[in-house]
Amino acid sequence: MSDWHYQTAVVTGAASGLGLAMARAFGRLGTQVVLADLPGAPLRQAVAHLSAEGLRVQAVAVDVTDIDSVQALARQVDEWGGADVLCNNAGITGDRPRECWAQDPANWRRVLDVNLLGVVHGLHAFVPRMITSGRRCHIVNTASMGALIALPYIAPYIASKHALLALSQSLRLELKQTAADIGVSVLCPGLVNTAMTGPGRDHPDSQCAAPSDPAAAFARQVDNALGDAKVSAADVADEVVSAICNRRFRIMTHPGSLDLARRHWQQLLHRSNPEECL
Ligand SMILES: NC(=O)c1ccc[n+]([C@@H]2O[C@H](COP(=O)([O-])OP(=O)(O)OC[C@H]3O[C@@H](n4cnc5c(N)ncnc54)[C@H](O)[C@@H]3O)[C@@H](O)[C@H]2O)c1
Repeated sequence: MSDWHYQTAVVTGAASGLGLAMARAFGRLGTQVVLADLPGAPLRQAVAHLSAEGLRVQAVAVDVTDIDSVQALARQVDEWGGADVLCNNAGITGDRPRECWAQDPANWRRVLDVNLLGVVHGLHAFVPRMITSGRRCHIVNTASMGALIALPYIAPYIASKHALLALSQSLRLELKQTAADIGVSVLCPGLVNTAMTGPGRDHPDSQCAAPSDPAAAFARQVDNALGDAKVSAADVADEVVSAICNRRFRIMTHPGSLDLARRHWQQLLHRSNPEECL
């Protein structure tokens, strides 16, 4: 791809799902890719798979909730030439769907720590290095379609992704005021079948709620929508590559997302009260 000039990409949450697909897409363009994820077998296996495909990949164990861990990642990447692309992608959904007041405050903290503070840590460690490098760079923050609409029962996740969209907009405006050539994109996918959304997701007690529980009904609605999800992680990764090449800020991967967002923003324009958009 002629517009792709990036030597090294760092992808957090790269052992699985969207992060792994992005790592593969960047690697196929000849970029050295640093896969950053929690320590363990999935990270080792991801690197082994991509290496076997002939891609130039490195693994770094990192916990994005820990600023020291993310700073250590940045120092390690310095030794490999520094990052030209940073994908702040690691994310979790948190406990099973339930009312926001019933969500355990520890779950709120966990979700915000990974999905929001994890990105803050990535920016804190890498943006000053990118500015100093003087090279053309790009940052992609993985938000969600949930950043654009109102949804019940997964408030910690939705709040984290709304905040991440706002953070990404501030980041873009602030970088425009510098001489640095650093693009920013925010990725807003709809449902994609990954470990996050499939069986074994990180709210294993999701089947415990009574069938009449509206939060459980919502979870089933999401599961059904997932069954209809036609967009793959590889499709999303292709959109990310295209957005980086074209310096596109908003990456909307699901055609139906814009309709949902339009309904949400029409409610705002008409000063009507928020209604669920799904
Ligand atoms: N799959 C979807 O439908 C969907 C939709 C919209 C947005 N997203 C977002 O896409 C991103 C990737 O999700 P996915 O669907 O690929 O899920 P996934 O579970 O397959 O991958 C997430 C990865 O993040 C890693 N991770 C979690 N906590 C971490 C931490 N503290 N430090 C480092 N790594 C950590 C996990 O180990 C995992 O490998 C997330 O931010 C998610 O919110 C996913």
